[in-house]
Amino acid sequence: MSSSGYIRYHGLLLPPIAHTMDSLEFAQNFAVEDSDVFAVTYPKSGTIWMQEILPLVLNGGDLTPIHTIPNWDRVPWLEESRLALVVDQLVSPRALVSHFPYNLMPPSLSTSKAKVIYVMRNPKDLVVSSYYFHQMAEFLEDPGTFDEFMDKFLEGRVLFGKWTDHMKSWMNTELGDRIMYLTFEEMLQDLPAALRRISNFLGRNHSEEVIQKIAEHCSFKAMKSNTMSNFSLVPKVYMDNDKSHFFRKGIAGDWENHFSSEQLARFKSVIRKELEGESFSLPWSM
Ligand code: A3P
Repeated sequence: MSSSGYIRYHGLLLPPIAHTMDSLEFAQNFAVEDSDVFAVTYPKSGTIWMQEILPLVLNGGDLTPIHTIPNWDRVPWLEESRLALVVDQLVSPRALVSHFPYNLMPPSLSTSKAKVIYVMRNPKDLVVSSYYFHQMAEFLEDPGTFDEFMDKFLEGRVLFGKWTDHMKSWMNTELGDRIMYLTFEEMLQDLPAALRRISNFLGRNHSEEVIQKIAEHCSFKAMKSNTMSNFSLVPKVYMDNDKSHFFRKGIAGDWENHFSSEQLARFKSVIRKELEGESFSLPWSM
């Protein structure tokens, strides 16, 4: 246990409501199948969006799973305790999500033929989204002021550690053509185009009709009103919608409404320094 009430796992802070030593061990020993698909994200980068998209892409647009199974059981988190309870009900090809850095993924991932979609989001928007999420998610630490929360984020004293470490781990894997990189902004800008990329990567090559159907059901508006995805099934003691909504704004560029010029300079300088010498470049101006 860390001093904050989160558990500490390989240096990462995790909320004990969903993560236990048993669930983390279960994740380590998870037997990845060749047909498995993982959507990996740093928190607040589009995880729940992928929990809607993946079943639809994998099953050709059949709406049954997204309308009958809550997102956390439909496409469970690899590292959370629900996985052990639902794993036997997952239908092949299985879709999972994870916030783990690459080095904490189960060893069976690298020996399998499973595919990974790494979804990333402009960190300036991500820190804003995370700040509001910490206000409404009662199982997370109070974020304090936005300025305090930004410092915590830059120092990695937040869930799943430093964003830059997460990026570095996933940009430098040996997965070759088994990993696809996708941005939140790309999905926002042209969801059908992003869905075509996902569909082709997963070998589905769906018709335009199927792509348009999936896009319609994965819009911000559609997901916000889907009770199986909008967390309205979660009691208020865990998620308080009076404080902020999980489906808050779903836009790019909200950081401009939150960052002062001093905060922007600090943020950019830390991120640039952390990524110095890396061979990849960020898809956003920083
Ligand atoms: P905001 O807080 O900026 O609105 P995660 O699922 O990784 O926790 O990410 C949550 C963020 O994704 C929230 O961002 C949420 O609104 C946004 N999001 C989820 N589904 C979306 C969709 N269909 N379209 C746009 N944004 C979406």
